[in-house]
Amino acid sequence: MKPIVVVTGKNGQLGWELQQLASSFQDQYEFVFTDRTMLDLGAPESIAPFFNSVKPQFFINCAAYTAVDKAETEKELALTINATSVSEIAASCAKYQTRLITISTDYVFDGQGKAPYATDTPTNPVNYYGYTKAIGEQKALENNPNTVIIRTSWVYSTHGNNFVKTMLRLMKERPEIKVVADQQGCPTYAADLAEAIMQIVNASVKGNNRSGIFHYSNTGTTTWFNFATAIKEMAGLTCSVLPIPTEAFPTPAKRPAYSVMDLQDIATVFGLELKEWKNSLRKCMQLLHD
Ligand SMILES: NC(=O)c1ccc[n+]([C@@H]2O[C@H](COP(=O)([O-])OP(=O)(O)OC[C@H]3O[C@@H](n4cnc5c(N)ncnc54)[C@H](OP(=O)(O)O)[C@@H]3O)[C@@H](O)[C@H]2O)c1
Repeated sequence: MKPIVVVTGKNGQLGWELQQLASSFQDQYEFVFTDRTMLDLGAPESIAPFFNSVKPQFFINCAAYTAVDKAETEKELALTINATSVSEIAASCAKYQTRLITISTDYVFDGQGKAPYATDTPTNPVNYYGYTKAIGEQKALENNPNTVIIRTSWVYSTHGNNFVKTMLRLMKERPEIKVVADQQGCPTYAADLAEAIMQIVNASVKGNNRSGIFHYSNTGTTTWFNFATAIKEMAGLTCSVLPIPTEAFPTPAKRPAYSVMDLQDIATVFGLELKEWKNSLRKCMQLLHD
């Protein structure tokens, strides 16, 4: 019997990338990809019956309430999906000896750091989305010791809505765009994160079941402005990209000013080869172009 790997959020950026990758692992694992019709994280009571019928060996939770600004007003739903349901998932994982891999965010940090955040840097979210994800992390670790939390940042893919696709659209429509230049972080190509997740699953099958909090993004540090400029250059577009301060682009949810994460732990513990952000952006841009 092949180990059963459940992946939630199959139509999201990361879930979709895992679906693309799954064909390379079909001999080793039986994948069950879910969307909200199969497992609704807005209804935590549906989680225990799901586990009872599927009894997975691995549960990769890519589903989340990810509308950062909307979360400031849709608080109850954001908390249910990102915290209450993660807590229930972890409790079910403990019951069925399931290894849980659940995805969290750089937005658990307050952005006041000056050097990459270590995995044990205290969390102090500045927006409600970050708060819900921080509670989800806590509950996941409390309820199931066999949990890997992967904090990631600035995720993009060829699939779904993201900064790269929005920039490409705006740069084609307008002669000039303004982009925030005083928030620092690092982009993550969802395809790279999907590969890292499958390496963590493979490591577990070989006996490496290290648990806890890990950070994964591409490597390097950039700003949204520099990210946009790289997108423009790689696409060969002529639109002017102008830097602006955060105050000039008010949003309902505050964003951390500095959100670069230290990636050393995940690379060392699971033997991952990290990827430089511009190289990964180039790969994604190539696929978008093809
Ligand atoms: N995107 C980023 O920049 C970013 C940054 C840091 C961390 N993260 C984290 O990385 C993970 C993956 O993010 P992503 O970019 O792939 O997100 P995404 O593209 O927004 O996808 C989220 C997925 O969650 C699903 N979902 C939402 N509500 C649900 C519900 N009630 N029941 C079941 N599924 C539900 C969505 O389903 P529908 O397709 O039906 O809406 C979607 O498939 C998330 O944990 C996110 O918090 C993302």
